[in-house]
Amino acid sequence: MIEFYQIKLECLDYLPSMPTVLNKLLEVLNDSSVSNKEIAKIVSLDSSISAKILSIANSAIFGGIAPIRDINLAVTRLGRLDVKSIAMTLFISTMLKKFKLENIDIEYFWKHNLAVSFLARRLSQYLKTEKAFTEEDRAVIYLAGLFHDIGYVLFDQINPDIMQLVKNKAIEQCEPFIELEKIIIHTTHAHEGAELLKFWNLPHEIVETVRYHHEPYAAKDESIKALAKIINMADYFAHEFRIKTFQDIRYEVNFQSLWDEFEFASYNEDEFIVFKNELASQTNLFISFSELALNL
Ligand SMILES: [Fe+2]
Ligand SMILES: [Fe+2]
Repeated sequence: MIEFYQIKLECLDYLPSMPTVLNKLLEVLNDSSVSNKEIAKIVSLDSSISAKILSIANSAIFGGIAPIRDINLAVTRLGRLDVKSIAMTLFISTMLKKFKLENIDIEYFWKHNLAVSFLARRLSQYLKTEKAFTEEDRAVIYLAGLFHDIGYVLFDQINPDIMQLVKNKAIEQCEPFIELEKIIIHTTHAHEGAELLKFWNLPHEIVETVRYHHEPYAAKDESIKALAKIINMADYFAHEFRIKTFQDIRYEVNFQSLWDEFEFASYNEDEFIVFKNELASQTNLFISFSELALNL
């Protein structure tokens, strides 16, 4: 077995950590007793976050009649959950630029993760659950989607040669990437990605959803299980739409057992085609909007 853990520990020492402003922002955005004014104050501490928040608040999707220049009004117009999603999207995009990647095309990786975050939020409406998801849950789903494959980045940063070996074998043997990870390095991008998110102090639900995104049924906590099922299904659709990180690698989802848990399982063939086509165009639209609005 390759000495993955030793290298990982050394690597974690020089990995960029979460900026203090973002850490603080995540903390207060989860606290309903904190006012929008206080949130705006923290946002103002970081000029790049403030600039993006203002530009999105003034964009066609959110735009009111009068343009706003005040960050306080921008936070109110967008809502705290969108502020959180924008801040985290900026964080991950900045982080990605700090990694030296040899086996991952960052553009494909980024599009795939954006697609999964969007799809997961949409598909959460179709999972048959006893309790409907709240807006807060949907924000967790979006962020778990955004970070779900971050383990690949860590993996390529730690040891690009092993990454290449796993990738080549996955192509040669026509096996899913994760199966080769288990054989060659005895760990997975899902598990290692979750550990990285823990290191960045991301909320527990996001960390655990990422950990189980390839095997939702292994999660013991029922709410994590439900979230991981959604990410797994979103991953399936992203691959169906050919929005994927590795173009030549076969992808497999826990599909048979998962399918019936979603309401669209009962659609007839025509209904399903319409549903899928709509979803594909909405996903592509979302990716274009995000890239444009955030200047990724
Ligand atoms: Fe994955
Ligand atoms: Fe994925």
